[in-house]
Amino acid sequence: MHYASVTNNLKNLGSEKWAVHLKARELIAAGSEVIELTIGEPDMPPEDDLIDECIRSMQAGRTKYSNGRGESNLLLKLKQKYVKVSNIPITEENILCFPGTQTALYATMRSLVEQGDEVIVGDPLYATYEGIIRASGATMVPVPLRREYNFILQAHDLEKAITPRTKVVLLNSPHNPTGSVMSKQDFLNIAKLFVQNDLWLVSDEVYEDLIFEGEFYSPLSNEKLAPRTVVVSSISKSHAAPGFRSGWAVGPREFCIKTLPLSETMLFGSQPFIADMTALALSRPSKVSIKMKIAYERRAKLICHNLQSVEHINPLMPNAGMFILIDIEKTNLTCSNFAWKLLNEQLVAVMPGDSFGHQARSFIRMSLTVPDKLLLKACNRISLFIKNLK
Ligand SMILES: Cc1ncc(COP(=O)(O)O)c(C=O)c1O
Repeated sequence: MHYASVTNNLKNLGSEKWAVHLKARELIAAGSEVIELTIGEPDMPPEDDLIDECIRSMQAGRTKYSNGRGESNLLLKLKQKYVKVSNIPITEENILCFPGTQTALYATMRSLVEQGDEVIVGDPLYATYEGIIRASGATMVPVPLRREYNFILQAHDLEKAITPRTKVVLLNSPHNPTGSVMSKQDFLNIAKLFVQNDLWLVSDEVYEDLIFEGEFYSPLSNEKLAPRTVVVSSISKSHAAPGFRSGWAVGPREFCIKTLPLSETMLFGSQPFIADMTALALSRPSKVSIKMKIAYERRAKLICHNLQSVEHINPLMPNAGMFILIDIEKTNLTCSNFAWKLLNEQLVAVMPGDSFGHQARSFIRMSLTVPDKLLLKACNRISLFIKNLK
């Protein structure tokens, strides 16, 4: 039977990247004592009253169709959030609600690029970005985020990657998997290139609330960048609520007008009871994000403390997020060999760095979303693994 080329274009981007994770889940289901440090799922529940609000809302009959843009109470809360940040005026017309950042990114990319266009992405990159770009028909152009610059995009690297086909630069700060955070100055350094080349900036801000070191800065606050920026985000990380699938895109009014029919075609609106819960979540500071921030920073330090004296590997303390990268270059193993061997020999599941781009190929990524005790146990198993390599 006939299939569209998109099925081929995305063929190796889905489960291939998560093969170690999927194997680990299989082993766990069969009773094995695998320590799973692969994906970034918050290990804390959402605040109780957010769940109560969902139930209350469903019981109150908020189970019908919504409209394509989003429920008015949620649009109001999002307007209040972004009005404080943005250098362009923000009204409800600058916002579109989606089930999570992932769909917001998908719709945004579909709306901005197509075959023949190029999208520049900082490498290392979040694992689904390549699929999102390829699904639109555009070509992904990775630009290195160099370790010597703390994985922050440099203007000279960006400039080299721009061609007449470039339409969008996709950035993610705080960054997964490196945990780097772009400052106001970092955005200032690259702003001119966006104007000169008439580029869009798609800014994935899903880890905004999980910064240990440094301050969050959105390109929406920069006067040159704001008119050409689309922010995508959600409550998945900030409120430990990934399963609720509640996110949004914020951008220029024209972008929203152009993208709304696409969103309506994809979704026919999202769930009013999820909107009610999200509106409540955004009406106050997130207590759970403070707890996660404290725990993830402590756990990253714990890993650094326990692994920095282990020969041939080097943990890199992140400034934000849910992950830590470990440099494994000196083991002379590829990241994929390292991850599979570690799983098979010591029952510790980590992500091979190359799931996050070429620049991450000499790293493994460990998730910080398990209790300290278990992380310590994982560190001991990793030390033993390295000893046995000799
Ligand atoms: C950088 C980044 N963007 C987007 C997502 C997906 O977020 P959501 O659950 O809002 O779709 C993730 C999830 O891990 C992520 O790390």
